[in-house]
Parts: sequence; structure tokens; C-alpha cells
Amino acid sequence: MAASAADQMLQRIKARDNLPAHVAIIMDGNGRWAGKRGRPRTAGHREGVKAVKRTVEAAIEVGVRALTLYAFSTENWRRPRIEVAAIMHLLYETTKREMREMFENNICLTASGDLDGLSLRQRTILRKAMAMTKDNSGLVLNLALNYSGRAEILQAVKRIAADVAGRKMKLDDITETTFAGYLQTNGLPDPDLLIRTSGEYRLSNFLLWQTSYTELYITDTLWPDFGRAEFFAALEDYQKRERRFGAVPKGGQKKKK
Ligand code: FPP
Repeated sequence: MAASAADQMLQRIKARDNLPAHVAIIMDGNGRWAGKRGRPRTAGHREGVKAVKRTVEAAIEVGVRALTLYAFSTENWRRPRIEVAAIMHLLYETTKREMREMFENNICLTASGDLDGLSLRQRTILRKAMAMTKDNSGLVLNLALNYSGRAEILQAVKRIAADVAGRKMKLDDITETTFAGYLQTNGLPDPDLLIRTSGEYRLSNFLLWQTSYTELYITDTLWPDFGRAEFFAALEDYQKRERRFGAVPKGGQKKKK
């Protein structure tokens, strides 16, 4: 049987040596996906869970080390109560249902965000899944839950200030590296690639510190339609870019605009 376009992309990606280690995704467009079909927004979120599964499987297949998914922002509490409840229920059910499979697939589940702001039921299942998978050495699946980039930075600043006041740290010890250690990304490297679906050109308070030099990939695809082929297309696009981190290109002058 002929290899599919996605299989061919997979081969090309694997043949190159610049696979992104950490990919972050803003999963957007669930509501619009449902609206186009005359269905309630919650149907879009349910379908979004299937896209999460496809993407996690693709990330494992290609060998990405870490995947951070923006599952719920602190701003998302402003949505209608019924929608918030539906998203929370989906997160709970998915964590409970998939926990064993995550363990068997060597996934290490982690979370970024203010977990204390979640319900006890939600926190309990999440902590159980994280404890169960903590020694796994495969894909780190990091869920941004009740997450806000600004709140994360403020929390780090407050904790550093407390450590300086308590003489556990000196002012001169505050460097980019030590600061990053106070963030909620659990020691993950900064994302190399950030994917946002549904054609919106915004960061939406996601990983503000960590995305300083992250490459962006924006697609019009709505999240429930996202999957293996489009994930590979994003990786291939990334691999063709030249990352300069503010410097000039290797062996040449910076091009005039
Ligand atoms: C954005 O679409 C989506 C969310 C705010 C929720 C994301 C949640 C899931 C995909 C479900 C659970 C996830 C996991 C990890 C199991 P939107 O509602 O903002 O869509 P719109 O912009 O079209 O209205």
C-alpha cells in the first residue's frame, strides 16, 4: 500500500535533526466547529478531546519530548456556567478514562496553572494520574489548567521577593535561569514551536515568559479538525525555519528587509 502524505511527512521529519523538543498548542475553534454544524458549543469541546488524542499519538510517533496543551485559562471562567461545567467534566472524564493508557504508553502527565482553583474532584483525579505516570520516560504531556501567563509571572515574582526577604536568595542570584525555576512549567525547556488553531493571531496569556523565542504556526483549521497530518505539517514548517535568537544567520549577513 502506498504511504499516505502524512506518512511521507513523518519520514522526512525523522530524517532531519531539528525536531522541536517542546511543542505548545492553543487549541482554539471548538465553539465555531460546533456552531457551523448547528450543535451546542459543548459538542465542539467533546470533539476537541478526540483531536487531543490524535495529536498526543502523533507526538509520540514522531518523538517530540514534551507537549503543552492550553486546556483551560483563568479567563475561561468567564464563559457561561454550563460551558465551564461541561469542559471540567470532559477534563475529569478524560483524565479518569485515559490514565491507564497514558501510563502504558509511557506518558508522563504534568500540569501548569493554579490547580488549587480547581474542584477537589478535579484536583484529586489529576494528582492521581500525575502520581501514576511520574516515573514514565516518554512524552511529557503538560496540561495548562486554570493557567494565566501573567499570574504565573506574578507568582514567581512574589515567591522570589519572599526568598530574598527571607535571605534564602540574593538579589544578584535572580537570573533568567533562576527566575524560570520559579515558573509553573516544571523544568520543561521553553517551547520551540507554538501552534494555534482557528486562525487567531494572539498569545492569549499563554506561556508569556517561555515563548520569547518560540516559532509560531497558525492554522485556520478548527481544533476538532486538527490531527496527525496537520501536526506533522506544523513540524515540517518549523524544521524549514532558521532560528536566529536575535543573531545574524549562520555564515552570513542579516538580510535587508
Ligand atoms: C477553545 O475553543 C477551547 C477551549 C477553551 C477548551 C479546550 C478543551 C478541550 C479541547 C477539551 C479537553 C482537553 C483535554 C486536554 C482533555 P473555543 O471554545 O474558544 O472555540 P471558539 O473560539 O470557536 O469559540
